Amino acid sequence: MSHVEKHNPLKSSAITRKTDSLREGRRCKVAFSELRLDDVRKDAINFGLATEVLYQMSAGKEASIYIAEWRGFPIILKAYRLWQSSHRMSKSKGHITTGGKRSHNILSMIEELAMMEHDILNHCFRAGVHVPTPIGRVANLLTMRFIGDELEPASQLREVTVEDPERVLNQIFDDYLTMYRDAHYVHGDLSGYNILWWRDRPWIIDVPQAYKVGAWADMKKVELMLLRDIKNVLLYFEQYEIYREPESILDVFLDEYTPENLRHYKELSQEGAELL
Ligand SMILES: Nc1ncnc2c1ncn2[C@@H]1O[C@H](COP(=O)(O)OP(=O)(O)OP(=O)(O)O)[C@@H](O)[C@H]1O
Ligand SMILES: [Mg+2]
Repeated sequence: MSHVEKHNPLKSSAITRKTDSLREGRRCKVAFSELRLDDVRKDAINFGLATEVLYQMSAGKEASIYIAEWRGFPIILKAYRLWQSSHRMSKSKGHITTGGKRSHNILSMIEELAMMEHDILNHCFRAGVHVPTPIGRVANLLTMRFIGDELEPASQLREVTVEDPERVLNQIFDDYLTMYRDAHYVHGDLSGYNILWWRDRPWIIDVPQAYKVGAWADMKKVELMLLRDIKNVLLYFEQYEIYREPESILDVFLDEYTPENLRHYKELSQEGAELL
């Protein structure tokens, strides 16, 4: 049973249909090559995710972003795919090898990313973080709220000059703290690129790589990821001559939330090192 069928029983078979078409040797553009607007439009409409797909807005490493519509209202459609050139892949079986001996089913990998982004957006939205509200997800396609006016998408923070940078900096860290403390995620790629500026406030986007901070978390990794995000945000504010100590912001985050069983992780990792 695919993830689609497990988590979304009413919308079965989307990924199974793709796997089947692959086994039969037919081409499957959504997953494997540069996406064609027509194919994405057909899938999005067939899957009931959009009533129209207007145009492509951007093409990132693993996904392309489209402006779509749901009954006349603009929405964002994100289509995950893997570049053909960067992966050794057996088309006949739909598996790729990534360095080691393990092979992965390419379709479940991209579906997993779309599913992760949908779930993480949902948790963050419910916790009160300013993120685009997720709408739907089938196979490798994900829809979410359009951040922008009419058909004009919001600018990335790095492209704009804000009037009250101190307030904006605080809004970003307040939102990020809510994401970390209440939804328990480290973003992992936060910067002026993945923050949009809309209606006079920042909006956090692009969360599929976020790291869940629960009982089994690697707190060293959490520290490193948080610190990198904090530094990247502070970098944008240097143009306004605002400088803050990243380490003390990190301490606030860790103080606000560290999983109960990992509260003494610093001492424990030191003791562990001494035993070696
Ligand atoms: N909900 C949204 N509303 C408006 N614009 C959006 C939305 N989501 C994404 N965008 C636009 O599309 C761009 C790319 O989106 P996102 O960062 O999610 O995709 P990505 O493929 O992961 O990109 P990259 O690999 O470049 O980080 C954003 O920088 C933003 O300009
Ligand atoms: Mg991005």
